Amino acid sequence: MIPRYQPISDLEDLATIFSPQDGRSDLLVRQGLSLPDHTQLRAYASAREAFRAWLEELSQRTTARGILFSAQICPVLPKLAVRLGFVPYFVDVDEGAPTPTLAKLQGARTKSIAATIVSPMYGHAPTDVSVLAPGHGEILFDWAQGLLHLDAAALSNRVDANLWSFGIGKGLDAGGGLLASQSGPEKAHDARASGFVVAQTAWAKAVAFNAIAASGAWRFLAPRDSDGSVHEPVPHQARLIGPAIYGLWLSRLARYAQEIEIARQRARSLFDMPEVAAACAYAETFASSRPTHLRQVLRLRLPDRRDHVVNDLWRAGIDANHAGEPLPNQYLDTITFQVDAASDGLPNARRFVLDSIRLPFLGRLRQDQWMQLVERLTGVLRAQT
Ligand SMILES: Cc1ncc(COP(=O)(O)O)c(C=O)c1O
Repeated sequence: MIPRYQPISDLEDLATIFSPQDGRSDLLVRQGLSLPDHTQLRAYASAREAFRAWLEELSQRTTARGILFSAQICPVLPKLAVRLGFVPYFVDVDEGAPTPTLAKLQGARTKSIAATIVSPMYGHAPTDVSVLAPGHGEILFDWAQGLLHLDAAALSNRVDANLWSFGIGKGLDAGGGLLASQSGPEKAHDARASGFVVAQTAWAKAVAFNAIAASGAWRFLAPRDSDGSVHEPVPHQARLIGPAIYGLWLSRLARYAQEIEIARQRARSLFDMPEVAAACAYAETFASSRPTHLRQVLRLRLPDRRDHVVNDLWRAGIDANHAGEPLPNQYLDTITFQVDAASDGLPNARRFVLDSIRLPFLGRLRQDQWMQLVERLTGVLRAQT
């Protein structure tokens, strides 16, 4: 079986704890994931928890209640918005793309919009946020699917808030979410109620803490008493956060960067195969040099062949499936949201949902798994044309 997602499960990372390497502290910056200069930085159990806290605070800052989303977004976020009294406004993605252009989002920003959520789905991030004019509510970048985007450092500094997810399936397998925002709870007790505030320089350590706590690895790290018994580290996070743990997290990030590069090369090589080029559209988007995510999507020129292709891959034990997030009416009551008038019923998002196939995360496949996938995929596509 070739699973969709193969988490990092070996102990190699743990070994680095005991031999922290010099010079790694630059890595975040080199990978484009430097910290924005935001005043508040909080680690949470998940990105959705962070988003919930941010929305609660937003509702205190403004009377506007619209939240602008792409029609292709993790459904959890619009659902949370509805639950907290906001009205999601959906904008269609661009033709052939998993995201709307910023110009399209800008066109939908009105007085009733409290915030615009920009989500680089499958790693596709815009390059120039200046298109989003000031004065139309706040802007939050959701980096859950664009962790190592090349422009992340520059972009994240220019918006009101940034959200990261490190949950299983996002690549780091660390667990947790992180919110960096220009504004936040004024009082310390409010901050503690909605998350925990960490010093700016300690953000990666806070994320690492989540990794350690969630995986149970803390047992290997916690200081021991002379009788050999281990101190329970939770909830005193500070005891766990040290240079060694920072090293652990950075080593995962280093590996993730390599995997992204492998995924990128494999995605491009797929489109060099005549069978894939003939059957699949939008190579310039889905096999470009820009996406920075392990997820890979193919878009069939003939959507009615999709089930046949997916089923054939499944028969070979390859966990491919339909891609695309559900459309808003599939997870929200129609009276709770609005579709931007210019988006005309979201035709591009609908097409995306009908013609796309998600492959297993290419950067995590062993070479033999990759070869097996290529052989089976080209075989079934050849038979289609
Ligand atoms: C774009 C996007 N945003 C946010 C989330 C939520 O992240 P978490 O699972 O950490 O709550 C996801 C999860 O799949 C996502 O894909």
